[in-house]
Amino acid sequence: MKVLTVVGARPQFIKAAVVSRHLRKTTEEIIVHTGQHYDYNMSEIFFEELNIPKPNYNLGISGGSHGEMTGKMLISIEKVLKVEKPDKLLVYGDTNSTLAAALAAVKLDIPVYHVEAGNRLGTFSNPEEINRICTDHVATVLMSCTESAVKFLESEGLSSRTHLVGDPMYDAFLYYKGKAAEKDMYKFTDLNGNTFLCPDDFYYLTCHRQENTSTDKKLTEILKAMNSLDAPTIYPVHPRNHDIAFQICQTNTFKNILLTQPVGYLTSLSLVNRAKKIVTDSGGLQREAFFAEKKCVTVFDHVVWPETMIENRNQLAAPCYEDILAKLETDQRIDPMYKPFGDGHAGEKIGAFLQ
Ligand code: UD1
Ligand code: UDP
Repeated sequence: MKVLTVVGARPQFIKAAVVSRHLRKTTEEIIVHTGQHYDYNMSEIFFEELNIPKPNYNLGISGGSHGEMTGKMLISIEKVLKVEKPDKLLVYGDTNSTLAAALAAVKLDIPVYHVEAGNRLGTFSNPEEINRICTDHVATVLMSCTESAVKFLESEGLSSRTHLVGDPMYDAFLYYKGKAAEKDMYKFTDLNGNTFLCPDDFYYLTCHRQENTSTDKKLTEILKAMNSLDAPTIYPVHPRNHDIAFQICQTNTFKNILLTQPVGYLTSLSLVNRAKKIVTDSGGLQREAFFAEKKCVTVFDHVVWPETMIENRNQLAAPCYEDILAKLETDQRIDPMYKPFGDGHAGEKIGAFLQ
């Protein structure tokens, strides 16, 4: 059995780390990196820290419009599939790399195995929604993280191909949290290349979605809210909005925000575990906040992970100063028995489907 895995973006490297470890015990795996994320701290650091096997191919495709990026990937992935002739294609999540790989494989009659299938927001204004829906509908096996995702797939007539396996991000959280705790957390690099020390008390912010960063107004409101808090905010900035975040903080003298370069996964997990509270628009970080039992405010119009929203553990906020502060003040309640993301063995289950 030969499986070809296509990854391209930061959260996919983390999921691949978990799954590849199990998959490779029984199966030959070829890894194709599309190149969608390419900076050292958006890509290579994950392969190094998480011991992910080096990609067999790096297609070097990134940037441009969604159509241009997806189209170029489709052409290049098809060429690799024709050379490698895998029995199965494995893809994760909802990026342009996911969609391009799924389309290339299905047109060559190669069965597509989709991890993190079934999440739905109900709007095509979110670029990832298009990727998720198209990938799910051409895939042969749909592996979902949660019950709510399984229900969405049922409602689209896909239940015969759907399996609830749990969330590989939960596996990763459990597996790496010890290593993350050992991580030297004292030094960060700011956007000028200077180092600063990690404060004892801090909030953790990530914000990179197209929806929040395509205009200055929304990001300014988010940063204004964070700047007003009772402890500094650590904000590792995605390269998409690096320049604009820097400029907003300078113009408004937001001195309570510590902008940093993107960090590796172990540092990010350590920040999750040590932060007072978390504000984010990241799908991954919302779940990590939930796993770590940290209060989370998600600056987004849509619920992506409904299971995290229970008992105010995760709340949506508009990109607006007052709403973010109000939601941060709301107390959460935690039922330690409520574990909707599986048993921490999603990787084994996914590996078993691919044998
Ligand atoms: C993508 C995914 C999103 C996921 C995110 C993970 C799509 C449609 N979206 O969004 O679902 O949450 O990855 O982080 O696929 N850039 C760099 N260096 C890098 C990576 C990106 O400079 O290493 C810049 C490029 O100029 C690029 C821009 O960031 O144009 C945006 O990157 P892109 O991969 O298009 O989208 P993400 O926002 O990362
Ligand atoms: N993350 C990271 N470094 C950072 C910011 C985030 O390693 O500087 C991790 C974070 O802990 C989570 C994952 O990246 O595991 C989430 O990825 P991202 O927010 O890019 O994508 P999404 O989950 O929204 O698709």
